[in-house]
Amino acid sequence: MKIPREAYEEVLSTDLDHIVTELSDEFGQLAGKTLLITGAAGFLGYYLVLAAVHYNRKADAGDQIRILTLDSFFRGKPRWLSELADANEVELIVSDLSKPVDFPKLDYIIHAAGIASPMIYRKYPIECIDANIDGLRYLLDLSVQQGKDGHPISGFLFYSSSEIYGDPDPAEIPTAETYRGNVSCTGPRACYDESKRFGETLCVTFTKVHDLPIKVARPFNNYGPGLKLNDGRVLPDFCRCVLQDEDIVMYSDGTPTRTFCYSADSVVGYYKVLVVGRPGEAYNIGTETPEISMRDLADMTVATAKDLFGYEGKVVRQANEEDEYLVDNPNRRCPNITKAKTELGYHPAYDLESGVRRTIIWYAHNMDPAGI
Ligand SMILES: NC(=O)c1ccc[n+]([C@@H]2O[C@H](COP(=O)([O-])OP(=O)(O)OC[C@H]3O[C@@H](n4cnc5c(N)ncnc54)[C@H](O)[C@@H]3O)[C@@H](O)[C@H]2O)c1
Repeated sequence: MKIPREAYEEVLSTDLDHIVTELSDEFGQLAGKTLLITGAAGFLGYYLVLAAVHYNRKADAGDQIRILTLDSFFRGKPRWLSELADANEVELIVSDLSKPVDFPKLDYIIHAAGIASPMIYRKYPIECIDANIDGLRYLLDLSVQQGKDGHPISGFLFYSSSEIYGDPDPAEIPTAETYRGNVSCTGPRACYDESKRFGETLCVTFTKVHDLPIKVARPFNNYGPGLKLNDGRVLPDFCRCVLQDEDIVMYSDGTPTRTFCYSADSVVGYYKVLVVGRPGEAYNIGTETPEISMRDLADMTVATAKDLFGYEGKVVRQANEEDEYLVDNPNRRCPNITKAKTELGYHPAYDLESGVRRTIIWYAHNMDPAGI
């Protein structure tokens, strides 16, 4: 192994300590409550679940969070989640949200189930829409029913996306929550973008009509531990190349820009949206700087891998075999996160260099996506 195991364990333990420390008030609110996390087997589910487990390990028995995890295992059953279920640290519900589930009374719901990777939702567009619309509607109806049964929910978080802004007008970058977007309703990304947009409409409508505490997060390009190496998103693609000692393959001309948010930062933001966010409101969760081109990101990945284990590859350009790979791909994406900073106290702490370094270290010990 090119990178020692201690380095990997240090990444995990310091990330989880960071999340739990930043969320001491929010986890205090969740103490003794029942939390459902859908999409728990996915990338963001990884730190959402591990952080709550990390909190529980140090909490008194009466303050522990009851953690229910639900996933269809559409993309496989992760070992880490099975191990937590075997150890009774989480309860595992294997189900697709299109089927009714016999839940206990819930206090908090995080609806993270979905198909986030463009490479995968282009193959499964209807399943993508189903998770964002039917799955969401099922959980909203359940929340209404719980209120009627005398056990109102305390918080509901829906995962929308920065993709609801489409390819923003340059005058709207950095993009604030008030921007209405520039989105194709029929293009190859529409199954994702438009179902997230309508998902948000469902959320504000249920908030108003049923007086429910529903909040929305709009993630901007998250990366970090838990993101599968074969996910088809740019950073795992670059990391896979360097860890296999191959040149980095870039499928665009390298000019599109993004800001990237490390998952130990964004997960802090998501729990804050769930607990502190105002009902019916959406919050951008990401980082504002640096807005980096894909070319510079590739160069940074090369330099980090060289420093970590003497990688000697370079960056090469190649067309993707998928014709629609770059269709409707936004040129720039960069959030304005003032709302999350001021209303929630969300302040991302990891810079891109250290996040990429930590991510490569994590991947070095999780090269087999099926084995995570
Ligand atoms: N990761 C990002 O940068 C990002 C950016 C914008 C939005 N989001 C949104 O955040 C949420 C989580 O993202 P992620 O990166 O963890 O996604 P992911 O694809 O890694 O994981 C999603 C999980 O949901 C599960 N799932 C899908 N459909 C389901 C269904 N019908 N019933 C039950 N489980 C189902 C999958 O099996 C998977 O484990 C998604 O809604 C995504 O659209 C993520």
